Parts: sequence; structure tokens; C-alpha cells
Amino acid sequence: MTSFHINGRAVTVDAEEDTPLLWVIRDVIGLTGTKFGCGIGMCGACTVHVGGRPTRSCITPLASVDGAKVTTIEGLDPESQHPVQKAWANLQVPQCGYCQSGQIMQAASLIKDFPFPTDQDIDAVMAGNLCRCMTYVRIRNAVKQAAA
Ligand code: FES
Repeated sequence: MTSFHINGRAVTVDAEEDTPLLWVIRDVIGLTGTKFGCGIGMCGACTVHVGGRPTRSCITPLASVDGAKVTTIEGLDPESQHPVQKAWANLQVPQCGYCQSGQIMQAASLIKDFPFPTDQDIDAVMAGNLCRCMTYVRIRNAVKQAAA
């Protein structure tokens, strides 16, 4: 059994300790906003926050979040009014949308670490979050708007 908090709710999960957190979030807890892309920690589609830090849930074993606080896109802001979410909507960042929950979770962490992010800060922090629709210019603008 592994117990942790997800989006402020206490959960106890009966699954193998090495089950990737991504599948626990999606298939056991039923929160499907977090996406599977590569499964090897290379694309960022599965990004959630663990203890407030951006984390690739596809390569995070369940046992490692015992006692932790996990936040998914559904819990970032109950009203979807986080500054990053508002900027994403204002600038119509998504195209197909598949990678965007991971992008938003990474960006939410970025603006905490860099209240006034430069292009270099944004490119460095967001480099591990891939977008096949190439929305990178809009992502960069939205991060700046969210931080402003
Ligand atoms: Fe986790 Fe790609 S699905 S990094």
C-alpha cells in the first residue's frame, strides 16, 4: 500500500511499488489530464508536481511518492484560473493539445523559480517538454504573460 495526497485529497493505492505514478494517476485514480507520451522521461507530457517540483510521472515509481503531495493539471487551480492557465487561454497556445497539461505544469513551476523569466530561462526550463505541433513561440509568450 502506498499513501499520498493528490490535489489535496488523501489516497491509498494497492499496486506494485514500481508501478509508474502516471498509470496510478490515470488508471487507478482516474485523472486523465496527465498524458503518456514517451514513457522514458524524454517528452514531458506526463509532468506533474511532486512536493511542488515538476516530475516526470512516467518514470516515477509509486513507492517514491509515499507520503508526498502530488499535484496534477486538475489540481493546479480548481477554477483553471492559475496565471499560466489564463495566459494559455488568452494566447490560444494549444494546437492538438496533447502535450499541454505537461507544458502548463512545467511552466507553473518555472514562474515560481523565475518571477521575471528571460527567453533563455524559458527555453532552458521548457526544453524538456516537447510539442509536435511546434507551439513553442506561443508557449514562450504565454510564460512571459503569466509571469507579468
Ligand atoms: Fe513521461 Fe514522456 S511520457 S516524459
